[in-house]
Amino acid sequence: MAILVTGGAGFIGSHTVVELQNAGYEVVVVDNLCNSSEKSLERVKQITGKPVKFYKADILDREALNKIFEQESIDSCIHFAGLKAVGESVQKPWEYYENNISGTLTLVDVMRKHNVKNIIFSSSATVYGDPAFVPITEECPKGQCTNPYGWTKSMLEQILSDIQKADQEWNVVLLRYFNPIGAHQSGLIGENPNGIPNNLMPYITQVAVGKLKELGVFGNDYDTPDGTGVRDYIHVVDLAKGHVKALKKLEDHSGLSIYNLGTGKGYSVLDIVKNFEEATGVKIPYAIKPRRAGDIATCYASAEKAEKELGWKAEYDIKDMCRDSWNWQSKNPNGYEE
Ligand code: NAD
Ligand code: UD1
Repeated sequence: MAILVTGGAGFIGSHTVVELQNAGYEVVVVDNLCNSSEKSLERVKQITGKPVKFYKADILDREALNKIFEQESIDSCIHFAGLKAVGESVQKPWEYYENNISGTLTLVDVMRKHNVKNIIFSSSATVYGDPAFVPITEECPKGQCTNPYGWTKSMLEQILSDIQKADQEWNVVLLRYFNPIGAHQSGLIGENPNGIPNNLMPYITQVAVGKLKELGVFGNDYDTPDGTGVRDYIHVVDLAKGHVKALKKLEDHSGLSIYNLGTGKGYSVLDIVKNFEEATGVKIPYAIKPRRAGDIATCYASAEKAEKELGWKAEYDIKDMCRDSWNWQSKNPNGYEE
C-alpha cells in the first residue's frame, strides 16, 4: 500500500517524502509543478536512496487522478497541493478558491470513489486569525482571515470536517502549521520561492547570499517585547516528521483530529535576525518599515496536544533552523535552477 502525496515536489512535501521513505512507506507523488521543480524529487532520491514514483498532474484533473488511483494501490493521502502566496491571493481570489477548494473537492471525490478515505490536510495557523489567546490551543476559536488564501484553509477544514461527519469511514487529520523554515541537513532540498520572497526566512537568506540588499522589518511598534512581530518558527524536518506520526493516527481510525504543529516558542523578527547572525556568522542589514497589511502582533502554538496524542514534539531549535536555511541557500543560491 502506498501513500499519495499531493504537492510532494514542494517545500514541505519534499521533506515529508524523505521522512515517509525513511519510515518505510511507499510513496506516490502527484504535483503539477506550478510552484516547484521535479529536481526536488531527484534530490530526495539522493538523500534516501529510493526513487520516488511521480505523476505530473493537476489535482483538478479528475481523469488523471482516476488513473493514478487505478494504477497505484493507495491507502491514504497527504494533501499539500495548493497555492500559498498570501498577497497574490488578494489579487487573484478566483484562482485561489478554484485551485485550493475545487482541487481538494475533486481529490476527495476521486478518493471516495476508490474507497480511500484517509486524508491528512495541510492547514495553517492563519485559521485562528488574530488569535483570541496565546499560546494558541486547538480549542482557540477560528478567527477572521485577512486574505483569500487563509479563507481557503479555513473553508477546507470545514468541508473535510463535514465530509467526515457524514461518513464515519473517513479519517481526517487537520494539521495547522505555524511558520515552517529550515531545510534538510544535507542542503539538497529546501524552500525555493518564486521571485522576491514574501516570508521572513527566505528573505533573510537572500540578503545573506547577496541577492537582496537589506531586510525590511515590518513594524516595530507592536505590543511585543521588542515591538516586532512574534511567530512560532518550526523546522521543516520536524514538521515533516509530524506527518508520519499523523499517519499512524489515521491508521488507528481516529475520525476527525486537529493538531497544531509548532514548537510552542515565539521569536520576534529581531530575535530571528540575531539568531541567524549568530548561527551563520553572516550579518543581516535591516531597516524598520511600516507594518504589513494583515499582519498580527503575536502568534505561537501550544504544542501539547500533538505531543500527548501523536507522541510528536519539535526537536530542532531556532539556531538549527537558521543554520539549515542558510546551508540550503548558500549551496543553492538559485534554488533548483542551475
Ligand atoms: P509549495 O508551493 O512549495 O508546495 C505546494 C505544491 O503543490 C507545489 O509543488 C505546487 O506545484 C503544488 N500544486 C499547487 N497546486 C496544485 C494543483 N492544482 N495540482 C497539483 N499540484 C499543485 O508550498 P509548501 O510551503 O510546501 O506548502 C505545502 C502546503 O502547506 C500548502 O497547502 C500550504 O498552503 C500549506 N502551508 C504552508 C505553510 C508555509 O509556510 N510554507 C504554512 C501553512 C500551511
Ligand atoms: C505568512 C502568512 C500566513 C502563512 C504563513 C506561512 C501573511 C499575513 N500571513 O505568515 O498566512 O500561513 O506566512 O506561509 O502573510 N516580516 C518582516 N519582513 C519581511 C517578511 C516578514 O518583518 O520581509 C515579518 C512579518 O511582519 C512577521 C514575521 O516576519 O512578523 C513572519 O512573517 P512571514 O514569514 O511572512 O510569516 P507570517 O506573516 O507569520
